[in-house]
Amino acid sequence: KPLTVLGCRFRGGQGKAGVEDGPVHLVRAGLIEDLNKLGYNINFDGHISFDDITEEINESKDPKIGRMRRPRLVSKACEKVYNIVEDHAKAGNIVLTLGGDHSLGMATIGGTIEAHPDLCVLWIDAHADINTPETTIQGWLHGMPVSFLLGLSKMEEYSWAKGRLDPSRIAYIGLRDIEDGEKETLKQYGITAFSMHHVDMYGIGKVVEMALSAINPEGDRPIHLSFDIDALDPTFAPSTGTAVEGGLSFREGRYICEAVAKTGKLVGMDLVEVNPSLTDPVSAKKTVDVACKLIRSAFGKSSKSHQEQSC
Ligand code: ARG
Ligand code: MN
Ligand code: MN
Ligand code: MN
Repeated sequence: KPLTVLGCRFRGGQGKAGVEDGPVHLVRAGLIEDLNKLGYNINFDGHISFDDITEEINESKDPKIGRMRRPRLVSKACEKVYNIVEDHAKAGNIVLTLGGDHSLGMATIGGTIEAHPDLCVLWIDAHADINTPETTIQGWLHGMPVSFLLGLSKMEEYSWAKGRLDPSRIAYIGLRDIEDGEKETLKQYGITAFSMHHVDMYGIGKVVEMALSAINPEGDRPIHLSFDIDALDPTFAPSTGTAVEGGLSFREGRYICEAVAKTGKLVGMDLVEVNPSLTDPVSAKKTVDVACKLIRSAFGKSSKSHQEQSC
């Protein structure tokens, strides 16, 4: 099966340097070879770079629009990724995007849905990333991609983002840090969302089952898995820009990936927000290793210690 890997060295959607190195670390850890061993025919052309970020350039060339920071820079980067993803998805490839920050989600899912109009999305995250230019407090675009995917945020600068995802086709797992405006939006559009409270209450198996049957009741739709590493608890994935305590265990994260693999419907995945420069090297390596394991599980590697039929 053809698999395109896009290393997106992009950090413009948030404020911390270093997240652009995430993809480099993941690949250096052997990710491509691992996916190769799983039987994929890999298309990886090296990492994609984007315009440099310096505060001076931003201020003068890319002034805020309302509260939005670096609005044009993010749009330009995401439009580029959107077009690449669209082409590869239309050619029949599965597309794995390594971030970089989660603003990329508007590009990867937006591009994938052009090839697979009946796409459904699992968004695994501590955050809902559904702020609009009106509701955002921080102004960072990595907190806003879902609103663009759903067509709730419409701006001239983002006219390439068509907003074709129906709110009934996305479900969240792992939420624990949602802003008031986001809560309103989730409620208004009846979006399926499982917080850590639900994971505790029902267990991860039931939560994944409920999430998938909400967005994909017949089980026939292609699935995009957008995995923000901050969905995991910081004890398992400390090197990320907006860590929130009380997150998914590694096993819960891996279960989600294995369950998606089992559907046989995965057409796209993002693994984003790994920022190796925020912690000591040991914690950074731990985060990178965990991210690689999640990806491998989503692409069908079953964990020996974790098989359904046990001895
Ligand atoms: N809700 C906050 C915001 O909108 C945090 C978003 C964090 N997003 C992420 N992809 N890590 O700024
Ligand atoms: Mn195009
Ligand atoms: Mn997050
Ligand atoms: Mn996110």
